[in-house]
Amino acid sequence: MTEPDIKKGLAGVVVDTTAISKVNPETNSLLYRGYPVQELADTQPFEAVAYLLWNGELPTPEELAAFRVEERRHRALADNVKAAIDLVPLDAHPMDEVRTAVSLIGASDPGAGGSVLDAGGSPEQNLERSIRLFAALPAIVAYGQRRRRGQELIAPRDDLDYSANFLWMTFGEEADDVVVDAFNRSMILYAEHSFNASTFTARVITSTLSDIYSAVVGAIGALKGPLHGGANEAVLHIFDDIGTADNVVPWLDKALAEKRKIMGFGHRVYKKGDSRVPTMKAALDTLVEHYDRADVAELYDTLESEFVARKGIYPNLDYPSGPAYNLIGFDTLTFTPLFVAARVTGWTAHVIEQAGSNALIRPLSHYDGPDERHVEG
Ligand code: SDX
Repeated sequence: MTEPDIKKGLAGVVVDTTAISKVNPETNSLLYRGYPVQELADTQPFEAVAYLLWNGELPTPEELAAFRVEERRHRALADNVKAAIDLVPLDAHPMDEVRTAVSLIGASDPGAGGSVLDAGGSPEQNLERSIRLFAALPAIVAYGQRRRRGQELIAPRDDLDYSANFLWMTFGEEADDVVVDAFNRSMILYAEHSFNASTFTARVITSTLSDIYSAVVGAIGALKGPLHGGANEAVLHIFDDIGTADNVVPWLDKALAEKRKIMGFGHRVYKKGDSRVPTMKAALDTLVEHYDRADVAELYDTLESEFVARKGIYPNLDYPSGPAYNLIGFDTLTFTPLFVAARVTGWTAHVIEQAGSNALIRPLSHYDGPDERHVEG
């Protein structure tokens, strides 16, 4: 019998179409609904990019104004969600807090109850749910960091747009424009990336006609892993472990001798470098100057040049994002929850697209266990 052509990890396998984003390793580019992500990061607030991912077009000024009113309506941390977060042990990973909070939001959604046959929801219902999750996640992530620091919850401010308000709720002070801009860029760059592991997880869950909240909770679980979203947190653990640039070579000698994966480098699709890195590195550079931290830039550049020279494997988006979030003041454990707050836009856009296709995702497997046998006696 001929061996089947198994594609481990679905590497290189095209399983469906999508109109949401195009990842092109040949040209090292990324388009959101046709727009180069670099142009969006240079010109748009994150709210406009979220709108684009869901609706397929950038908002007019009137549409953006209306969207901002709607987003502000759902920013405050609901009492029951705060109570659920407070039940999560302080030493649990913050991704478990975020997963728990989203799960409770879903369970509390009056429209998501009732018969499982209604779980999937209409496109209109799911767009409303997407906006609510988009608006609610900053307070969830900000409160998570503050409670771990023994600090009180900070209420949102309606006079601040999405990124500035996110930073306000986290740190309790108005961030400088250069910090807001760098943060806004990171959210746009993290928002969407076609069929990555967490997005595909959300699509598999949606393909059974389950609900959008279950899809997002599943996606959060997938994103937590260090081979995926958890890499931005792991990059800072590496930076802390190395300490200063003059320790890069010995550290890398040891890590590669132990055959360790160096987090923040490599990518399943991009093999000549991640198209998003130059834009995020430029944002990191503005933060290095703003906070006068040339030491961070030196460590970043030394590790990159050493690793690329030895392995020919290039940084991915998590490599510049980690030190950027560290400079802004986020705890390392908060980094992947920040990724959730951004990627919830891409995940939910894919949920809405998948729900419209009505096609159950169910691949085949090749059995290599024992031949058929029977219970004795
Ligand atoms: C994200 O898919 C997406 O779009 C994801 C993402 C998104 O926006 O959603 O872009 C976000 O997840 C970025 C990736 C973050 N992960 C990391 O930084 C973790 C470290 N990276 C590696 O684990 C790895 O590069 C992957 C998992 C990202 C991709 O790996 P592949 O494509 O499955 O390739 P592979 O693991 O088979 O590696 C091929 C070779 C191996 O060597 P050999 O076993 O053949 O000798 O390259 C080596 C690997 O050991 N290699 C690395 C490495 N990445 C690949 N060696 C050391 N360090 C690394 N980082």
